[in-house]
Amino acid sequence: MTRRLPEPVHEALTRTFDARLNPDDRPLSAAELQAALRDADALLTTVTDKVTADVLSVEPRRAGLVANFGVGFNNIDIEAAKARGVSVSNTPDVLTDATADLAMTLLLMTARRAGEGERHLRGGQWTGWRPTHMLGTHVTGKTLGLIGMGRIARAVAQRAHHGFGMKVIFHDPFPPSPDIARSLGAEPRGTLEDVLREADFVSLHCPATPETRHLMNQERFGLMRSDAFLINTARGDVVDEAALVQALERKTIAGAGLDVFEKEPQVTQALVAMDNVVLLPHLGSATRETRVAMGMRAFENLQRFFSGQPLLDRVV
Ligand code: 8YV
Repeated sequence: MTRRLPEPVHEALTRTFDARLNPDDRPLSAAELQAALRDADALLTTVTDKVTADVLSVEPRRAGLVANFGVGFNNIDIEAAKARGVSVSNTPDVLTDATADLAMTLLLMTARRAGEGERHLRGGQWTGWRPTHMLGTHVTGKTLGLIGMGRIARAVAQRAHHGFGMKVIFHDPFPPSPDIARSLGAEPRGTLEDVLREADFVSLHCPATPETRHLMNQERFGLMRSDAFLINTARGDVVDEAALVQALERKTIAGAGLDVFEKEPQVTQALVAMDNVVLLPHLGSATRETRVAMGMRAFENLQRFFSGQPLLDRVV
């Protein structure tokens, strides 16, 4: 177990297995991950563990499973794991609602200038109500563009359309059936660019892969409307952070709500200085209920691995 886990998960793991903990709860180095692969039969990892090809090359290796705590697994070199016969599992489904809630949080916060307003009040600058004070952007009736239409994007569409009266458009190379899209009030668009040109809010919901790295680059920011906002609860790598800063500085786009960053936990300082940007520290799945469910899902994969049953959530 590479990080401290919620108590019920910790309890289940230590009761069932001869579990080794990371009492300091700090990210493990490559050498420490290699030592864990050498000594343990399975690893329970998180987004802060970089399980690279080099880390996986350790000899002799004892571990046969890397059970990742999270739906995303871009912290693991999947090809290298496959080549070396190391299985990898993840924790889908259980964090869909929490992450969709956080995408809506960021959307509403950016539209209504919530972070800026809070800083204003706490900073003692509020002089009282006035008709033109801190006017934001209306959400109801606006168009939300979803990049990727998997589980989390669908949950966002559900909230945005049925809860906030938004028009929802999306692009996904593997789209849901027309019936599913219709039930979410979501209309497909043929290209990513079509979504960028039309949306008032663009929310990213694709996995981080070599193909989606810097998907949002200078050229694509240029296609967005100048009054549009970018929301990212997916992965920092999907956005060229330098191009985003430039788009915000040049007012190519109106603002951004970000939960993930290219070099976590570092955040480009220019973003920190911008009032039209909402920044959260990778909180997508951070509810007690969800983190326990994620841990129990990883636990289930570990139990299956140790009893020789097929993994519930096999990545490779
Ligand atoms: C996790 C996430 O907090 O599941 C994911 O992909 O980004 C988050 O829900 C993180 O990955 C924990 O490892």
